[in-house]
Amino acid sequence: MSGRKKITVVGAGNVGATCAQELARRDYADVVLVDIIPNFPQGKALDMNQAGAVLGYEPVLTGANGYEETADSDVVVITAGRPRAPGMSRDDLVTTNESIVSAVTRQAVRRSPKAVVVVVSNPLDAMCHVAKSTSRFPKSRVVGMAGILDTARFSAFIARELEVSVKDVTATVLGGHGDQMVPVVSATTVGGIPLAELLSKAKIRKLVERTRFGGGEIVDLLGTSAWYAPGAAAAQMVDSICLDEKRVLPCTALLEGEYGVRGLYMGVPVKLGAGGVEEVVTLKLTADERKMFRTSAAAVREVVAVLGKKK
Ligand code: NAI
Ligand code: 2OP
Repeated sequence: MSGRKKITVVGAGNVGATCAQELARRDYADVVLVDIIPNFPQGKALDMNQAGAVLGYEPVLTGANGYEETADSDVVVITAGRPRAPGMSRDDLVTTNESIVSAVTRQAVRRSPKAVVVVVSNPLDAMCHVAKSTSRFPKSRVVGMAGILDTARFSAFIARELEVSVKDVTATVLGGHGDQMVPVVSATTVGGIPLAELLSKAKIRKLVERTRFGGGEIVDLLGTSAWYAPGAAAAQMVDSICLDEKRVLPCTALLEGEYGVRGLYMGVPVKLGAGGVEEVVTLKLTADERKMFRTSAAAVREVVAVLGKKK
C-alpha cells in the first residue's frame, strides 16, 4: 500500500472514468474504480495505468466490482446511475437512481467511514439527500457536484461571446442543478469588469438561457449526457478536499437557513477543504436573483418529495 491519498470513484462509465483519469494525472492519489459490470472497471483501470507510462503519472488504479478494495478512501465520488437520454429531464431519473445511489453509498461508507462523499449522479440535488440519509454522515461530508459544471458552461459561453480568454471570466451559477438554476450575473465579471457593462441585457439573457439548458444541448447532440466537463469538475472538488485547498467553489450543500432555505441541498459557494464543506459562503444576491433562487428551491423540493415513493 502506498502512502498516497485514496479516492474511490463508483461508476466506471463516462463521467466516472473521466474523473478517475483526471485524478490519476494529478499523481497525488491512488484511485479505485468500481462498477457493477463484470470486467468493465478492471479493463478501464488497466488502460489508465498503462496511459501513465505515456503521460508520466504513477498512481495505482484498481478496478473492482465490489468494495473491499475501496477501504479507507479519503474521498468517494458517486457517479453510478443512469444518464439522461434525449427528451428526459435530469429529474426523470429520480426513482432509478435513488435505489442505485442508496445501495452504493451504503456499501462505500461502510468501508470508508471517514470519507467525504462527492455526489454526481442525477437528479443531483435529490441524490445528495439520498447519500446523506443513507450514509448518516455529517452534512459537511456529503456534497454534490453541479455548480462547477454549470459555471464552466456559463463562463465558456461568455468567453466565446466576448472573444476573450475563459481564464479571465469569473462567473458563478447557484441553485438546483435543473432548468431553474441561477446564473448570478451580478457576481460575474470579465477582467474585473461587471458583465452587465459589457453586454446588453438581451445578450446576457441568451447566455443565461443557454447555460440553463446546457446539459440538454449536449444530450440532444450525443444522445447521452456530457462527461468531459463533469468529470473534470468532480476532480476539481476532489483536489480541493484531498489537498485541503479550501477553494471557494459552487457546490451542492445542505442548507439550514443559509440563503433563506432550510433542509434542502442546493448549489451555493462553499469553502471546500479536508473536512469537506467547511463553510457555506454568503454571496449577496440582487432581489431578482433571490427570487430565482427561491423558484429553484421549489423545483428541487418537488423532486426531493418523490424520494422514497418507489412503486
Ligand atoms: P454511464 O452510463 O456512462 O455510467 C454510469 C455507470 O454506473 C455505468 O457504468 C453503470 O454500470 C454504473 N452503475 C449502475 N449501477 C451501479 C451500481 N449499483 N453499482 C456500481 N455501478 C453502477 O453514465 P454517465 O454519463 O457516467 O453518468 C453518470 C451519472 O452522472 C448519471 O446519473 C448522470 O445523469 C450524472 N451526471 C451528473 C452531472 C452533474 O452535473 N451532477 C453531469 C453529468 C452526468
Ligand atoms: C449535465 O448537466 C446531464 O447533469 C448533466 O450535463
